[in-house]
Amino acid sequence: MARIIVVTSGKGGVGKTTSSAAISTGLAKLGHKTVVIDFDIGLRNLDLIMGCERRVVYDFVNVINGDANLNQALIRDKRVEQLYILPASQTRDKDALTREGVEKIINDLSDMGFEYIICDSPAGIESGALMALYFADEAIVTTNPEVSSVRDSDRILGILSSKSRRAEQGKEPIKEHLLLTRYSPERVNRGDMLSVEDVQEILAIPLLGVIPESQAVLKASNAGEPVILDSESDAGLCYADTVARLLGEEREFRFLEEGKKGFFSRLFGS
Ligand SMILES: Nc1ncnc2c1ncn2[C@@H]1O[C@H](COP(=O)(O)OP(=O)(O)OP(=O)(O)O)[C@@H](O)[C@H]1O
Ligand SMILES: [Mg+2]
Repeated sequence: MARIIVVTSGKGGVGKTTSSAAISTGLAKLGHKTVVIDFDIGLRNLDLIMGCERRVVYDFVNVINGDANLNQALIRDKRVEQLYILPASQTRDKDALTREGVEKIINDLSDMGFEYIICDSPAGIESGALMALYFADEAIVTTNPEVSSVRDSDRILGILSSKSRRAEQGKEPIKEHLLLTRYSPERVNRGDMLSVEDVQEILAIPLLGVIPESQAVLKASNAGEPVILDSESDAGLCYADTVARLLGEEREFRFLEEGKKGFFSRLFGS
């Protein structure tokens, strides 16, 4: 059975697609057969960030409608083996995704031997976002260290525990992970942003990763290369740590402090 993981947030523009691309690439790089699905119908950003926009022939909605099969629509990544992308449709019909259709695709992907199915959610808390999270086993709640983002993430946590399949069927709840993105220690110290501890205290879910605000992200998305492939970059390293933690490894958090002082030295007051 595949692990179905939704990358969600509520608030738009916080880094879901950047994170979906990086995390799926990281999992595949470690040998796990992974597919990343773009649920953002009408926008289609994921294939740009993954650098495969010119190779899109069929999309998610074509498969749901029976105009193409999964093998025709899946794009195999050229850099990383075991990595596949299912692009979003550019249709304006926001209701093009049906629950039965999405369920069939997820089951078929699982039968095809995918270990991880990463669902890149659209912003908001309406139908598209609900569809992206409905079948999830786990959720990566992507949050920026600012009040409006944290508030929307809190709303999404409520939805995960009430409107998902696991909730409706009374199963074990979705496993929730906090991913803080665009973190800037300088701005935290100036009092312009919430700290890691502030956000953790409000959302009270386990911390999976902290990704710094980084020029490398823009550079990577312009080049169509998920930032995790830039293994020299701060954001790339932090996404690699995030993937390792998702796989159960313990990793220290880095780039949480201005200058040299580490997270633990601050935590323990040394
Ligand atoms: N760690 C980071 N450092 C700097 N910029 C970042 C970082 N993460 C994301 N960004 C930038 O923030 C913007 C939004 O990122 P992204 O498209 O991944 O967000 P999203 O949550 O998927 O947005 P939407 O809700 O519209 O789908 C992009 O311009 C991206 O390059
Ligand atoms: Mg997006």
